[in-house]
Amino acid sequence: MALRLWKKKLPAREDKVMKRSLKLEEGVFDSQTRFTLRAFMNKGLIDGLDYPVSTGKEADVYRARAGPKFEGEGEFVAVKIFRIATSDFQRMTDYLRGDPRFSRVKHSKREIVYAWARKEFRNLRLCLDAKVPAPEPYAFNKNVLLMQFIGEEGVPDSTLKDVGSDNPEKDCETLLGYARRLYANNFVHADLSEFNVLMHGYPEAVPYLIDVGQGVVLEHPKAEEFLARDVARILHYFKKYGVKKDAGAALRWVKA
Ligand SMILES: Nc1ncnc2c1ncn2[C@@H]1O[C@H](COP(=O)(O)OP(=O)(O)O)[C@@H](O)[C@H]1O
Ligand SMILES: [Mg+2]
Repeated sequence: MALRLWKKKLPAREDKVMKRSLKLEEGVFDSQTRFTLRAFMNKGLIDGLDYPVSTGKEADVYRARAGPKFEGEGEFVAVKIFRIATSDFQRMTDYLRGDPRFSRVKHSKREIVYAWARKEFRNLRLCLDAKVPAPEPYAFNKNVLLMQFIGEEGVPDSTLKDVGSDNPEKDCETLLGYARRLYANNFVHADLSEFNVLMHGYPEAVPYLIDVGQGVVLEHPKAEEFLARDVARILHYFKKYGVKKDAGAALRWVKA
């Protein structure tokens, strides 16, 4: 069904018209999401969606062509569209409520998902402020988030899970270092794993953190628990490469 989004090859003039109207097929997006995407187009932020990079239960990520606002800054933008119907609202609410930035009670499922998109936007900003590589957030509106496209010549980078690590000792240390820097900046990713790290650049890939929507500030009552889980998952992943680190010592280092 999402395949229908692939843009047909059109002659130049028609292509322009097509770009302006952005054929957003019925059935792929609900009318509110189409409206939001159009608003981004009208603001010159995107020119159209190319294809889905990833489709998930709670969100789909698309490669989009950058609009005129990004003139000279790169050709593509990543568009993350949070699904209203299939999201786990209870889980989202748990991460929102304990975080004083978002604790105001949301009344509808829609509002919860909107708050989630806003939270991911804020959290990406926080990562960059803490000097941790992550996609630069550009804009959000309702359930749609625009951010820097992490890839090479239009090809999205692969996750650590998919490409693996060429330098496990170093990558493990780098990721623990990110957790440490974030913690020093009052923040925990809370879903750190090989699935949420993109390996960017060649020959030496730099890990980029993504999927930061569930990240919380340290005031969240479960922040410490989330941090311990993040550290444990990273150590567990690198253990198969023979990287031996004591979980307690690593956690103490991250918090030091
Ligand atoms: N900024 C980005 N640039 C390129 N690819 C991305 C970007 N953000 C996400 N992706 C791709 O989309 C996938 C899903 O994104 P993610 O934020 O982890 O959402 P979720 O896990 O909730 O579906 C990632 O594994 C990655 O392949
Ligand atoms: Mg993910």
